[in-house]
Parts: sequence; structure tokens; C-alpha cells
Amino acid sequence: AVGVQRLMSTKTDGINTITIFGAGLMGAGIAQVSAQAGLKVILTDVTDKALENGLNIINKSVARVGKKQQPDDIEGFTKKVLANITTTTDAEQAVSSTDLVCEAIIESIKVKRDLFAYLDKKAGANTIFASNTSSLGISEIAENCTEERKALFGGLHFFNPVPAMKLVEVVRTDKTSEATYQALFDVTKRMGKVPVACKDTPGFIVNRLLVPYLLEAARMIDRGDATKEDIDIAMKLGAGYPMGPFELLDYIGLDTTQFIADGWVDKAKAGVLPEALVEPTSSIVDLVNKGELGRKSGKGFYDYTKK
Ligand code: 3HC
Repeated sequence: AVGVQRLMSTKTDGINTITIFGAGLMGAGIAQVSAQAGLKVILTDVTDKALENGLNIINKSVARVGKKQQPDDIEGFTKKVLANITTTTDAEQAVSSTDLVCEAIIESIKVKRDLFAYLDKKAGANTIFASNTSSLGISEIAENCTEERKALFGGLHFFNPVPAMKLVEVVRTDKTSEATYQALFDVTKRMGKVPVACKDTPGFIVNRLLVPYLLEAARMIDRGDATKEDIDIAMKLGAGYPMGPFELLDYIGLDTTQFIADGWVDKAKAGVLPEALVEPTSSIVDLVNKGELGRKSGKGFYDYTKK
């Protein structure tokens, strides 16, 4: 694990154990990069099946990282990383002795709020809480926690695929303490990531810029300005993006993008965001209604079943 060691910065954050809620693609990725950095990881979800699915995602991805970091002993690398991960469906036990909770469950304000209110009562007084939400406000998620916990609450927004994307947005609310913020910043560096600081505003930095761009790309095909294939080629060759907007929409999931856009409608009504940013796009809405959600469902703007 020489490569991983090299990426790690000195430990100054007091974080040894991280509990991750949600063993989906994001949660599994966060578990993996944490385990690669030598943190003890407790991966938590509501069913054993979900945990098994998360471990499968991790297994495949760790082997991919091992191929680069430790080509002579991929198995040894994988074993070492996986040895840092335990799983449980018992939320209370998962936070009974942990330094950091990172939540990557479904994007529902109510479910997230309730989970954190429950964990607030069960976790130690110094445990830091973080959410990986991509579109909900961190303050709103922390709303039912105590004032003490709100000072220990921030956002840790990772990007898909987590093991490959270097960025983490570290989100600070009005109540996040300086020490909490520093600890979150430092732990992401230990994970080999590059943290950036952002306030608790809609979409933080990346999604605030990326989602309006993706929606406008969809409106371009709604209007017949250009084909999706040509728009994808244009943005890759003309703007240097690794994926065109439609490839990226399929990669993120059309339902996820639509969910973010829908959530922003209320923010636009409240004057926090410009109305034009959230104007509906028929091409995304139509595909979501047909259940064609992108790569995960085999079809979205493109067909992934014919390969
Ligand atoms: N696990 C481990 N490593 C992975 C990986 C995974 N799941 N996926 C990719 N990688 C690594 C590969 O091993 C490779 O590493 P190397 O360069 O050191 O050899 C590197 O990533 C590139 O992968 P590939 O060569 O297989 O493929 P590409 O060069 O085509 O890159 C990509 C794939 C990294 C996905 C690239 O196309 C990309 O950057 N796409 C844009 C992704 C993006 O914008 N993500 C953000 C989405 S928005 C979001 O997540 C926010 C949410 O809130 C909506």
C-alpha cells in the first residue's frame, strides 16, 4: 500500500473510526477510501442484502485500485483494506464508539433528519456527524439534533466513482465549529482526496454549476438545437470534459438529476435560485417516467444493453 501511504497526510483530526450509513454506490465508495487510508470502518445498512451488495462493490473496486497500487500482491492489498471494514445492521451499535458518522442513505430530508436525531441520542458526545447529501441543506438535515451536535455537524460530499474522483466538498453550516470543520477537512486529505470549502448553499459548488449545465443540455435536445451525440462530442472535444452531458446524466442517473431539479423548484420560488435554472426539461422527465434512468437501468439517453 505504498501509494496509499504516500497520499495520506499526517493525522491531526482525531478520527480513527468512521461509521457509514448506506451501503449503496456512494457509501461503499466512502467505506473503501476510508479503509484504504487505514481508518476502521463500520458499514451500516438496513438489510444484510444491502451490506452484501456494498461489499461486492468494494471488492471489485479495491482490486482495481490494488492493480495500480500494489500490482505484485493485489490479493494482499485487498485483504488489508477489507480487514478494516466491518458491517452491521444495528444502527445503535454502529455509533456506540465511533469518531465520525458519514451518512449516504436515500435523499429524503425526513429520513435523514430522523436518522440523525436518533443517532444524536446514541452516539458519543464528541462524535462528528456528516452527510454526503448532494442536494439537501446540511442545516436542514441537522435540524432535530441538539445544539451541541450541530457544532459537530458538517457536509462531506464525495463524487461518483468515489475511489477515482479526487474531490470532496466539505460543507460548513453557520453552526459548524472550527474544530469540526478542520477535522473533516483533514480526514478527507488522509483519504487521499482534495477537499474544498463551501457554505451550505444549494448544490454546494459542483452541483450548483453542473446540474444547470446538464438541464440546459437536455433543453437543447428538447428544442432540437442539436443531437445528444453531437452535444456529447462537442463538450468532450470542445471543453475537455471526460464525459459529455448525456453520458454523464446516464452515469449519475436521470432520477437523481430530476430529484435535484425538483428540490430546487421551491428554492427558486423562494428567490434563492434563478427560476430559469429549474425550468423543466421534457427529455429527462419523459425518460424518468418510462423508468429509463441511465446506466443503472440499462437504458437512459443511451442503450447499455447492446454491448
Ligand atoms: N473504482 C476504482 N477505480 C476506478 C473506478 C472505480 N469504480 N472507476 C474508475 N476508476 C479509475 C480507473 O482505475 C482509472 O485509474 P488510472 O487512471 O489510475 O488507471 C481511472 O479511474 C480512469 O478510469 P478508466 O480508465 O476506466 O475510464 P475513464 O478514463 O473513461 O474514466 C471516469 C472514467 C473516471 C468515470 C471519467 O469518465 C470521469 O471522470 N467521468 C466524469 C465523472 C463525474 O463527473 N463524476 C461526478 C458526477 S456528479 C456527482 O457524483 C455528484 C452527485 O451529487 C450527483
